[in-house]
Amino acid sequence: MLQKAVEYIKRNLPLHNPETAVVLGSGLGGFAAEMSDVRALNYKDIPGFPQTTVSGHKGQLLHGYVQNKEVLCLNGRFHLYEGHKPSVIADIIHILKELGVKRLIVTNAAGSLRKDFAPGTLMLIRDHINFSGQNPLVGANDERYGVRFPAMNAAYTPELRQKIKEIAAKQGVTLAEGTYMMVLGPNFETPAEVRVFAMLGADAVGMSTVPEVIAAVHCGLEVLGLSVITNYAAGLVDIPPSHRETLENAEKAAAYLTGLVKSFIIETE
Ligand code: HPA
Repeated sequence: MLQKAVEYIKRNLPLHNPETAVVLGSGLGGFAAEMSDVRALNYKDIPGFPQTTVSGHKGQLLHGYVQNKEVLCLNGRFHLYEGHKPSVIADIIHILKELGVKRLIVTNAAGSLRKDFAPGTLMLIRDHINFSGQNPLVGANDERYGVRFPAMNAAYTPELRQKIKEIAAKQGVTLAEGTYMMVLGPNFETPAEVRVFAMLGADAVGMSTVPEVIAAVHCGLEVLGLSVITNYAAGLVDIPPSHRETLENAEKAAAYLTGLVKSFIIETE
């Protein structure tokens, strides 16, 4: 699938040198409106590309500019709970790599595991815990992309984290920082699970991002990860989490997230 997809994308988008790719999480599609000269390819038209099945995820690969910075944007992501094989997510990242991308910005909606990260909080991901039981690198290792046993010490590139913190401070946007726990989903957690995740040192929980980051680190991309806290995880408050609440709160906080990501792209060489 990979080479055919790369060829199709190269033929159908006016690519020059897109160094940054952005993955938009649930309800965070608003970033697309900040791009100019936008060209869109539907996932369904890209040979071998899987389809997204979740509401709030559009299913388009966008190409355009943020000021003079060329970007690719995955508007709609693939989740393991949709039944995609983990290696599909590695393929998507490898396609970005083949297109010349050097830096991946991943965004998501996540549930809070702590009282002081209220819904609406933006959280910079410092590190993650892969609790999904799955891994995009399972299978024969493709040495062209990376080594068999990649280190994850600095998966979320420290320099990029420093940079976005400075931008947030300049913009007066409060940016929390924490550890993201990935579960497979698709059910929301039980209160008992939420208590365990907090004890294990996680600050937020979600059903995405980690496979993309593992594949990206493996093939040498720099990574910036941002979560929008859309709800308290189960048991922290009396109301149960819902996808509707997730989408509503994601939209509310999305403007701040979009502002940060936009400045980050503009100010990064
Ligand atoms: N749990 C898991 N994933 C999520 C949540 C949650 O509470 N909110 C948004 N994505």
